[in-house]
Amino acid sequence: MDGNGRWAAAKGLPRLEGHRRGAERLIEIVDACIDAGVNTLTVFAFSAENWKRPLEEVSGLFKLGEWILRAHLARLEKRKVRLHVIGDVTALPDFVRSPLQDVIKSSQDNTAFNLVVALNYGARQEIVAAARSLAADVAAGKLQPDAVDWAAVEARLQTAGLPDPDLIIRTSGEFRLSNFLLLQSAYAEIVFAPVFWPDFDKAQLQLALAEYARRERRYGMTGAQVQPPAQA
Ligand code: FPP
Repeated sequence: MDGNGRWAAAKGLPRLEGHRRGAERLIEIVDACIDAGVNTLTVFAFSAENWKRPLEEVSGLFKLGEWILRAHLARLEKRKVRLHVIGDVTALPDFVRSPLQDVIKSSQDNTAFNLVVALNYGARQEIVAAARSLAADVAAGKLQPDAVDWAAVEARLQTAGLPDPDLIIRTSGEFRLSNFLLLQSAYAEIVFAPVFWPDFDKAQLQLALAEYARRERRYGMTGAQVQPPAQA
């Protein structure tokens, strides 16, 4: 959800106002994704590197996270959204961690849509944790080195059980992945939207989905070999 700060600066507003508008936009985009038939949306809300921002912005972001969750809980429940969090939540302040954990639990039987919020997340940190878990299991004799395959790695990622992203949308005109889902995005299509996140509305989402639909996904094969995916 990149570009909140620049959106605010361009309008002479405080950065936190950009984040507030960005948070409201997220709720609208969740609705639009459900309506478009998307089943999982992962949003990068706070990176492991975002702690380096001024304290006022960091604490404002967490207050905003808590507020947006509380303000839209009934709506998320009505649309049968299941909430997941990836990242190291142990470092988050209690006032945001505790309601998040409550909603993760209370929404666990919702099946219409997965909203995955990346909080204090970094793909390299996730990979290091998975490598440590593998090493510990090998050292304990629970796993043979030869048995370490992609399934064993994937099962130790924080996204275990969730589908790999088909489409990654980077807003704000930046052209990087910035430590986001690096392994899971191996075959993802990437769309770079030239608008700041608070301006990423339903029409922008439709443009990104249309661009995705035009791409030919080959997974290393020739175009003739690729089978169309089974219809859900
Ligand atoms: C990136 O824009 C955006 C963020 C770092 C925060 C996104 C968070 C929300 C929209 C609200 C939900 C918050 C939580 C914690 C659940 P940027 O600030 O990097 O923008 P810039 O690149 O223009 O400065």
